[in-house]
Amino acid sequence: MCGIVGYIGSHQAAPVILEGLSKLEYRGYDSAGMAVFDGKKIGICKSVGRLKVLEELTHGGATMPGTVGIGHTRWATHGAPSNQNAHPHYNQEETIAVVHNGIIENYLPLREKLVSKGYQFVSDTDTEVVAHLIDYYYKGNPLEAITKVMNRVQGSYALGILFAEHPDQIFAVRKDSPLIVGQNEDGCFIASDVPAILKYTRKVYFIENQEVVRLRADHMHFYTVDEEEITKEPVTIDWDANAAEKGGYEHFMLKEMYEQPKTVTDTLMPRIKGNDIVIEELGMGDEEIKAIRKIFIVACGSAYHAGMTAKYVIEGIARIPVEVDVASEFRYRNPILEEGTMVVVISQSGETADSLAALRESQKLGHKVLGIVNVVGSSIAREADNVMYTWAGPEIAVATTKAYSAQLIALYLLAMKFAKVRGMLKEGEFRSMLGDLKRLPGQIERLLANKQRIQRFANRYIGAKDVFFIGRGIDFAISMEGSLKLKEISYIHSEAYAAGELKHGTISLIEEGTLVAAVATQDALFQKTLSNMVEVKARGAFVLAVTNEGNTDIEKAADYCIYIPRTNPYFTNSLAIIPLQLFGYYVAVGKGCDVDKPRNLAKSVTVE
Ligand code: G6P
Repeated sequence: MCGIVGYIGSHQAAPVILEGLSKLEYRGYDSAGMAVFDGKKIGICKSVGRLKVLEELTHGGATMPGTVGIGHTRWATHGAPSNQNAHPHYNQEETIAVVHNGIIENYLPLREKLVSKGYQFVSDTDTEVVAHLIDYYYKGNPLEAITKVMNRVQGSYALGILFAEHPDQIFAVRKDSPLIVGQNEDGCFIASDVPAILKYTRKVYFIENQEVVRLRADHMHFYTVDEEEITKEPVTIDWDANAAEKGGYEHFMLKEMYEQPKTVTDTLMPRIKGNDIVIEELGMGDEEIKAIRKIFIVACGSAYHAGMTAKYVIEGIARIPVEVDVASEFRYRNPILEEGTMVVVISQSGETADSLAALRESQKLGHKVLGIVNVVGSSIAREADNVMYTWAGPEIAVATTKAYSAQLIALYLLAMKFAKVRGMLKEGEFRSMLGDLKRLPGQIERLLANKQRIQRFANRYIGAKDVFFIGRGIDFAISMEGSLKLKEISYIHSEAYAAGELKHGTISLIEEGTLVAAVATQDALFQKTLSNMVEVKARGAFVLAVTNEGNTDIEKAADYCIYIPRTNPYFTNSLAIIPLQLFGYYVAVGKGCDVDKPRNLAKSVTVE
């Protein structure tokens, strides 16, 4: 996600900030900016593009003199990448400057309220709301204004704040977005991640949710949201700089798997309003939703697999026929798009050449396209008629994990919305599904905590030649993604099969000891999949089963079992995929593969 760096001390702030931001570049960003107090006022310089542009604009920081400042690299969420939307953001009088990571979920009503009070906005960001809201509450006491804002905003935030009236201080605050502060003999620092300040200090304080820090050149004070002062213990960081970029994780893929609870929350929560799902960006009224006759989902790779899951969910609960196509096929096969057909293109990068071509093809045939996209301002995001963003943040590992999980959530929301509007879900069912959705992040966390058991199992299979993944219905869609995760990073041949189809040829490949991963999370299909497991076991397969807690019957047919927490049957993919991702990851690590950059693969496939 975005990066934050701030400094107050005896040195010039701008060069320290630029240096710190450069250490956060790996996180991905589309624009950068700084605010420095020059002795009279807060100056801001910001620019779309690489950090180098900001460095050039400020001559390495020399044109922004001053010893207190905050800086930011932005990964666009609300509002396209542009100079105006880049951080920092001012209040109207330019006496307060704010940098922000995270998403302010209730920014729209807050913005309306502030506009009605005469505040003028110059950007499309949720962050600017924070700058004006601080101004609104500020009566001379920064801490009081900040804590009032914390009580008003919903969502996630790490904030760095400067007040022109208090130029000897920086304020830092967080909720659900990482933020650390550190100190050395020359000053104090804030940063969204350790690598940004590792060059200056290894003594850092991890800020907890709803805590505020007041930094001065020579000391820091910590407060609760009730303005009560608290004491905190520093932590000494002993990671090397390389490990620090990965937050201490061995690979970006592991880090991104661990970010999934947050990704799911960020994609889900802004769209749940009370007991309803509100997808403002859908651009469709109830009548249009009722008029949908068919949905075409078009995508590549894992996004295609997310689409396969969505087919079962949308058809199952909204009763709308869904066709899922790989984009490279769709674009050349002269698809039949009749009246009432909605086209959904799913893409993490928003730049995949085939998916973009499929989008254009659909528009040429006169159909509106909904993009489910992660990268704000990407080609698919710009060209789609409507965009529903997955708020996964930048994904660096080539093999997608968190963006895929976010796509699933966006698609569940779409399915439930359509089902509700079309009268296919009773209020009680809808509410219970909402409850299940909200429980997913915690359940994913539990599964991730079990990683050592999966690692031990994976170590037994680093020499495998072929692996088969089987499942029925949604479990088949999960198998497809589980199989792709394993093969793309470990280079072990694997295939996903609809469990009932295996005996029509592929079962002849099963030999003594062949690993078959059977996914059986759908109670209605459980006995059928169990029979398929028995079939392969009888031919010598070693069967790994992934099923719901309580389904201990499976132990009759499986050699090794992984249990996932109970959820609505339509959402099991979000849980079952976690052990499969971990399995693929640990097999690849065990084999010594380059996990984050597998051979022959690109993160964003912008050519045909
Ligand atoms: C590449 C990536 C996959 C991804 C696919 C589609 O092959 O390695 O992880 O699923 O492209 O990418 P998109 O950015 O359109 O989701």
